[in-house]
Amino acid sequence: MKKQESPLYVNLDYEGHVKRLAQNENPYGPSPLAKEAIAQNINKISLYPDVVLTELKEKLAAKHHVSPQEIIVSNGSGAIINSLIKFMMGNTENIVVPEISFVAYKLCAAIYERECRIVPMKNYSIDLHQIAQSCDEKTRLVFLANPNNPTGTIFTHAEIVEFLNQIPPDTIVVLDEAYREYVNHPDFPDSIQLFKNHVNVIILHSFSKIYGLAGLRIGYGIGQKSIIESLEKKRLPFAVGSIANIAALASLDDKEHIRESASLNAGSRDFLFNELSRLGYQVIPSQGNFIFISFPSTAERDQMHDTLMENKMVVRKMEAFGDNRALRISLGSKEANGQLVDCLKK
Ligand SMILES: Cc1ncc(COP(=O)(O)O)c(C=O)c1O
Repeated sequence: MKKQESPLYVNLDYEGHVKRLAQNENPYGPSPLAKEAIAQNINKISLYPDVVLTELKEKLAAKHHVSPQEIIVSNGSGAIINSLIKFMMGNTENIVVPEISFVAYKLCAAIYERECRIVPMKNYSIDLHQIAQSCDEKTRLVFLANPNNPTGTIFTHAEIVEFLNQIPPDTIVVLDEAYREYVNHPDFPDSIQLFKNHVNVIILHSFSKIYGLAGLRIGYGIGQKSIIESLEKKRLPFAVGSIANIAALASLDDKEHIRESASLNAGSRDFLFNELSRLGYQVIPSQGNFIFISFPSTAERDQMHDTLMENKMVVRKMEAFGDNRALRISLGSKEANGQLVDCLKK
């Protein structure tokens, strides 16, 4: 394989020649406050980080109106997914996941040899009714990404309340909200209220998406004290680096950066949805920072993928996520989105 053909190679191109539309990163970068805090503290990298992360936990607790003991911070929310599957399940227990969803759920289940039940989608949305039907007394964890990566669809507050009322309290329902800041749908769930009303709800948040800190690896979970305590006991002591901690703390002060990124993202989302729909593609309406295109065949999917790659735009095939006829395109800068549409028009 020629070097240019490898997605990994192009993904590592940090010179700006390649448009990175494959990993749902924030094209506008992190908050200026985070960059300033990193610069000011750069000389402290010879010191080990704060192992208990008290300040960050307190700040997050205040933001979400929960207690710091109900929060776990980790090196990316992906690490919490890993820990839940690794530590919270018995050998004979299973997890339940939607068919087209974040790949880490089934990957971790495979790593730890846990049964993973895959539930068909309903029009590219998570079918909560079918998910509930697929759970049994051996189901320990249900993973629900909302918005769902990669389809970008959401379920509403009323829908998830109805679902939670059918699920026994010893089955943990993970509401993975890595993309929640991008949502502008009025009926999106108030997950903190769900957490307060249901002992088995865990919420996951990431600093990798709208906060623009993917390279630093930091994310967090909110759950009942007993669950957080048992996860904390097994967490590696210095998993979260000092710069990640400092950048996260500073980012939380910059609400304007979040508002601005969400607003630019919504503009890009409408632009690409409209343009690509007009070109005849089947685009699923998204609430995330990416769009999902379904093709009639794998060959047609490959054709778009290869055309974009040849023009130095990296997008992601969705095989690993559960669909071999789909592409996910992360929303880029205005320039990148325009370039993508121009390329497809040709
Ligand atoms: C739905 C979802 N959850 C969790 C993650 C993990 O994010 P991180 O480990 O960078 O916080 C991702 C990353 O793409 C994601 O799409």
